[in-house]
Amino acid sequence: MEFDSEKLRAYYADAPEDITLEDIDLERRPKHVSIIMDGNGRWAQARGMDRTKGHAAGVDSLRETVTTCVRMGIDVLSVYAFSTENWKRPQREVDMLMHLFATTLMKELPLFHQENVQLRFFGDLTALPKKTYDVFMEGLEETKGNTGMIFALAVNYGSRAEITRAAQMLAQDVLEGSLKVEEISQAALESYLYTAGLPDPDLLIRSSGELRLSNYLLWQLAYTEFYVTDTYWPDFDRWEFLRAIRAYQSRDRRFGGVKTK
Ligand code: IPE
Ligand code: IPE
Ligand code: MG
Repeated sequence: MEFDSEKLRAYYADAPEDITLEDIDLERRPKHVSIIMDGNGRWAQARGMDRTKGHAAGVDSLRETVTTCVRMGIDVLSVYAFSTENWKRPQREVDMLMHLFATTLMKELPLFHQENVQLRFFGDLTALPKKTYDVFMEGLEETKGNTGMIFALAVNYGSRAEITRAAQMLAQDVLEGSLKVEEISQAALESYLYTAGLPDPDLLIRSSGELRLSNYLLWQLAYTEFYVTDTYWPDFDRWEFLRAIRAYQSRDRRFGGVKTK
């Protein structure tokens, strides 16, 4: 994706001590960055606030991260916002999150337009409350003509559910005769995933220190570099993002081959 280096430099002025924009090689920036936005609840609890306040604060981090990725010319930003397992949370928290998704998306549509961002979703949206579902559909419709960064929001997403769904659709196509068993290749299977047509993530960031995938993109992360920061999601900012890119660039991605440098 194209980017304006003047604008990026201005955006990354006032650097903290440990990192500046010069520490990364913009030519080698990842194409697809994916983030498990975790730690909202703990962030709020550490401040004596209700967990839901953490989710509201997390929206600001997400807005900044979308802007950061656009400025940097990242092709795809995907974020895990609600898992198939998150329905287990107290009803009040689930309701608040669903409401927050709807209101935030509606509010941020002008930003997506301004930044030419195309929206996409990973997950089974049919299980969402009608209001949230309707706003998501409106967001898809409104941004479908945008040609800049793809921003994918994973909501009611679980990787095992995604792969199971792919298996069902694939079996249906075989039954109907539009696909032969011999034609089931890795590429064919991928075309049934929510991520169809997107490159696999180059970099996965998880905030708040947990060292697990929590049922996120199990297929797509096969060769992704992981970066885990202890920072809670509401404190994640453009500098944390830069630290993640720096770590990513220090890795030798071998893809099963031999050392490249
Ligand atoms: C991530 O923050 C947001 C969602 C899963 C919706 P958490 O709510 O998981 O925050 P912690 O992990 O409990 O601190
Ligand atoms: C993963 O976070 C899901 C999202 C960030 C949306 P969780 O907080 O649900 O994961 P666990 O329960 O710690 O594994
Ligand atoms: Mg969590």
